[in-house]
Order: sequence, then C-alpha cells, then structure tokens
Amino acid sequence: MAKTIIFLGPPGAGKGTQAQRLAQEKGFIQISTGDILREAVKNGTELGKKAKEYMDAGKLVPDDLIISIIKEKLQELEGKDIILDGFPRTIPQAEALDKMLPELNRKVDAVILFEVPDELVIERLSGRRIDPKTGKVYHVKYNPPPSDVEVIQRDDDKEEVIRKRLEVYHQQTTPLIEYYKKQNKLHVIDASKSPDEVYKEILSVIE
Ligand code: AP5
Repeated sequence: MAKTIIFLGPPGAGKGTQAQRLAQEKGFIQISTGDILREAVKNGTELGKKAKEYMDAGKLVPDDLIISIIKEKLQELEGKDIILDGFPRTIPQAEALDKMLPELNRKVDAVILFEVPDELVIERLSGRRIDPKTGKVYHVKYNPPPSDVEVIQRDDDKEEVIRKRLEVYHQQTTPLIEYYKKQNKLHVIDASKSPDEVYKEILSVIE
C-alpha cells in the first residue's frame, strides 16, 4: 500500500521545507493545500477568487472547498507515496479524509506533529522568502537565497496576518492532536532544531 503521511503543525514550523526535501530525496509527492490555493489565486480561477479573502485575512478556507480539492488530488495520485502538508486542519477535514482513504486503497500511516514555539514561528515567517519560479523556500537568516535568485515574500507573511494564522491554528487545528493520538498515529518532533536534525527525526518515523 502506498504511504500516506500527514504533516501537522503551526504555520512556519517547517512543514513545506521538509516535504520538499522528502520529495527530492525519497520520491514522496508533496500535496500542499496552501500551494494549490496560491496557484488558484494567481491564475484567477473560481477557487482562487473564493479562497483569496480568507487567505489574506489568515483564516481557513471553508472545509467543503478544501475537501473536494484533496479528493481530486488523491484520485490522480493512486499508488504514490504522499505527504499531506497543511491538510487536514479541522476535525471535519480529518473525518472526511478517514472516510475517503479506504475507497482509494490508503490509510493514514503516520501523523508528524511539528512542535515549535510561537515566537520562533514569527521569526521564521517574517524572514521567509520564496523563489516564484521553482517554489523553493528560503530564509533571510537561516537559509539565504543565492544572489542570482530573485525571491518574493508571501502576502500572508505580514506580522498581523501571521498572528491571526497562529490564533486560528491554536483554535481550529490543535484539536487534531488529540484526534490522531487516539488513533495511535501521532509522532511529535522538535521542529525548533536545525533543518537537518528535523529531517533525521522525520526519517526515523517514516522508514
Ligand atoms: P499554508 O500554505 O499551508 O501555510 P501554513 O500552514 O501557515 O504553513 P506555512 O507554509 O506558512 O509554513 P511551513 O510549516 O510550511 O513552513 P516553511 O517550511 O515554509 O496555508 C496558507 C493559507 O491557505 C491558510 O492560512 C489558509 O487560509 C489556507 N489553507 C491551506 N490549507 C488549508 C486547509 N487544509 N483548510 C483550510 N484552509 C487552508 O518554513 C518557514 C520558514 O522557516 C522558511 O523561511 C524556512 O526556510 C524556515 N525554516 C524551516 N525550517 C527551519 C529550521 N528547522 N530552522 C530554521 N529555519 C527553518
């Protein structure tokens, strides 16, 4: 059975950074609902128009929209090892996932919770920069972009929006910790360590 791994954790915990590395080195496919939504906003699709105001305000996009995106993606990726990066983020999303996976011959193999204090989230997100051509994630201090790469800052990486995203995480996403603990699927990692150390911890869970 193909592997299905969930990355859970606050904004800026390093989920995207680690998912990109696992994709590169271990052949996982990264499914980032945030990336899918940003692409839709950029292309001005119906989905993008609906999602934009929620994203700019740091709020969650409605569950029904997100669930249908994931269903479609999972159907496309039959038989592939995947990382769900940023999904599920609410109890209804997790319940919908539990219902759809068996139909797709999958189950949740592991949920990795990235633990990192709020102050570090703010520092990481305000220093985050992205290469719009490749989607590669950098940080002005911890992982500066090469001088010939032109980078951009995400619209929702402004301090007031970051604070709202953190609040939304604590209110709406942290109940998933208990949800997956009960299913015996939760693995907690210390995501305040260096990217290499975090990567090693993740490998020890999934291999
Ligand atoms: P999304 O794009 O998923 O954002 P997020 O969860 O807020 O997570 P981030 O992408 O901000 O952080 P990350 O953990 O990937 O950190 P990164 O690796 O970049 O969602 C955006 C919006 O879309 C939401 O607000 C919502 O509106 C909507 N949305 C998405 N999914 C949804 C869903 N399921 N339901 C409803 N709405 C949804 O790292 C951050 C920075 O730190 C980088 O600069 C990086 O270089 C650096 N860094 C990473 N690791 C380390 C390390 N170990 N040490 C030092 N620096 C590090």
